[in-house]
Amino acid sequence: MANVAPTLAVRIWRGNAAGAFVGYDVPRQASQTVLDVVTYVQRYLEPTLSYRFSCRVGMCGSCAMTVNGVARWTCRTHVAGVATKDTRPLTIAPLANFPLVRDLAVDMRGFFDKWAKAKGVFQGSATRHDDFARVAPGSPARIAASAGIECIGCGVCHASCDVVRWRPDFLGPAALNRAWTLVSDVRDTAQRERLLAVAGDAGCHACHTQGSCTERCPRGIAPTAAISGLKRTVARQAMRGEL
Ligand code: SF4
Ligand code: SF4
Ligand code: FES
Repeated sequence: MANVAPTLAVRIWRGNAAGAFVGYDVPRQASQTVLDVVTYVQRYLEPTLSYRFSCRVGMCGSCAMTVNGVARWTCRTHVAGVATKDTRPLTIAPLANFPLVRDLAVDMRGFFDKWAKAKGVFQGSATRHDDFARVAPGSPARIAASAGIECIGCGVCHASCDVVRWRPDFLGPAALNRAWTLVSDVRDTAQRERLLAVAGDAGCHACHTQGSCTERCPRGIAPTAAISGLKRTVARQAMRGEL
């Protein structure tokens, strides 16, 4: 690696909410990711360091952390892109807006409970004896449903949302994005129940539409657009007296 310092100064959060950053020096490697750095520290310098990962290829959503103040998936975040001369030492902290377990591991239970509150489970009426449903790939509903379906549940959007920080009962961008994929799914049969779930005070209308979730989502999903779709649908159905 030309012109790259042989070691990288890193600060990693240790302990619970009353913990502190601890500094480490990590050898630089070609194409090194932030997750590689954390893994090096855990394997060679600090065996008790707690963090979470699984796939290492951007599929499972378990490796998200706060890197230099910004929520990111760490397995696909290259050190070269975030540790510039202006941003050293590289600072790695747990995701914001989640209860801390310890070190870099946060408690995701409340986050996924919100998916359940937003009725984020598909409910169909077909049985195994029915033919496959045919939904035209170019239909607006199919396009809307497909836009948000590749969410990996990483929590980056949730950690980046001011409203989640201000009011912890807000369902948040990921749960609302999931709800919108199902509202847009013509096969789903729980539409009224789901719209009622997201229409409440802590639902889609609490979003201020500034779009940090969309800016940060590593999968290129736009929860802001999904939430706008929910707002429009809730308002339309309420005006028709259907909610
Ligand atoms: S657009 Fe809405 S959901 Fe997204 S970060 Fe802002 S308040 Fe949160
Ligand atoms: S919408 Fe994007 S940022 Fe939010 S949980 Fe899904 S993949 Fe992660
Ligand atoms: S380890 Fe699976 S998305 Fe990063």
